[in-house]
Amino acid sequence: MTFLKLDSLRKHYGAVAALDGVDMTVAPGSRTAIVGPSGCGKTTLLRLIAGFEAPDAGAILLDGEVMADAQGQVPAHLRNIGIVAQDGCLFPHLSVSDNIGFGLKTDREAKRARAGELMEMVGLDPAMLSRKPDQLSGGQQQRVALARALARQPRLMLLDEPFSALDTGLRVATRKAVADVLSSAGITTILVTHDQQEALAFADQLAVMRSGRFVQVGSPRDVYARPVDAATAAFMGEAIVLPADVAGGQAESPLGPLAIDAGGFSGAGSILLRPEQISVRRAEAEDANGTVADVVFGGSTCDTRIVLDGVHAHAFRLDIPNREMLHAGDRVAVSVSGKAHLFR
Ligand SMILES: Nc1ncnc2c1ncn2[C@@H]1O[C@H](COP(=O)(O)OP(=O)(O)OP(=O)(O)O)[C@@H](O)[C@H]1O
Ligand SMILES: [Mg+2]
Repeated sequence: MTFLKLDSLRKHYGAVAALDGVDMTVAPGSRTAIVGPSGCGKTTLLRLIAGFEAPDAGAILLDGEVMADAQGQVPAHLRNIGIVAQDGCLFPHLSVSDNIGFGLKTDREAKRARAGELMEMVGLDPAMLSRKPDQLSGGQQQRVALARALARQPRLMLLDEPFSALDTGLRVATRKAVADVLSSAGITTILVTHDQQEALAFADQLAVMRSGRFVQVGSPRDVYARPVDAATAAFMGEAIVLPADVAGGQAESPLGPLAIDAGGFSGAGSILLRPEQISVRRAEAEDANGTVADVVFGGSTCDTRIVLDGVHAHAFRLDIPNREMLHAGDRVAVSVSGKAHLFR
């Protein structure tokens, strides 16, 4: 079933193609994450879905109704879509309670009661309701912005980097709290984030955007394990990309022969390995196939650069547990488990 459908959306700002043909379907009650580099069009897409701007071409359908197409568009306030903008955007002169109740068509008492419920839902103490936004931390303000968006019981929630101002611990906790609130309310959600870890953890469907287009849309596991190209691979996590000669479902690589995840191709290509597929141990002369070139201490792991033996001396970096106590110059044996992903 499709709840939201985006069909060939285009949006230009002067010469800049902010959206250059975006297609996507979103299932009801699901969570979609959109990732991509700064300026690739993520906020523009959310603004079009929310109805703050009109597409130059293409269509947006929500729950079977046309929200925007060549004939015109449904105004933002009639779409019943919640949005938490990149910069939070609480009204600074209103209390937390009035921020959350803003736009609700009920009396003051009912608004305050609803605001109290929503505060608890997003994990904030209702005692904060009478404070002004500048008397809250950044993370608390973001959660108030979410409570305000939830107040109108939106049928679709758009979140534009809502956690980016938070430190790591609070970020993870807030993300989980928000995900729980949204799924218990059954609200279909689209989250925009720079943070691949956040996207992988949050989403049922992950869309990778580049230069106004989706280069890949799929399940987080699929996009992580089978990215369309090396840039997407690197964007979604640590990637070890090596050249390979492919024939008969096998790749001859600088790490020796490796099984690959796709058949039917032969010739020169490049392959991807994820760090969890690679083990490295200090080795004696006959077992070794590489040398540690550089080790940067990073706490529990060390960012380690390894140069593989062979005429081309291919190198890669890997976070290796600190307990291995590797040092520059050590000879190591590098081995691979599972299949390498072949880029097409
Ligand atoms: N109102 C506008 N007028 C002109 N250009 C705009 C406008 N809004 C966005 N752009 C341009 O459109 C492109 C996409 O912008 P957008 O804000 O959608 O990017 P983004 O993916 O959200 O980036 P970030 O991760 O930095 O928030 C950028 O090149 C931006 O400069
Ligand atoms: Mg943005």
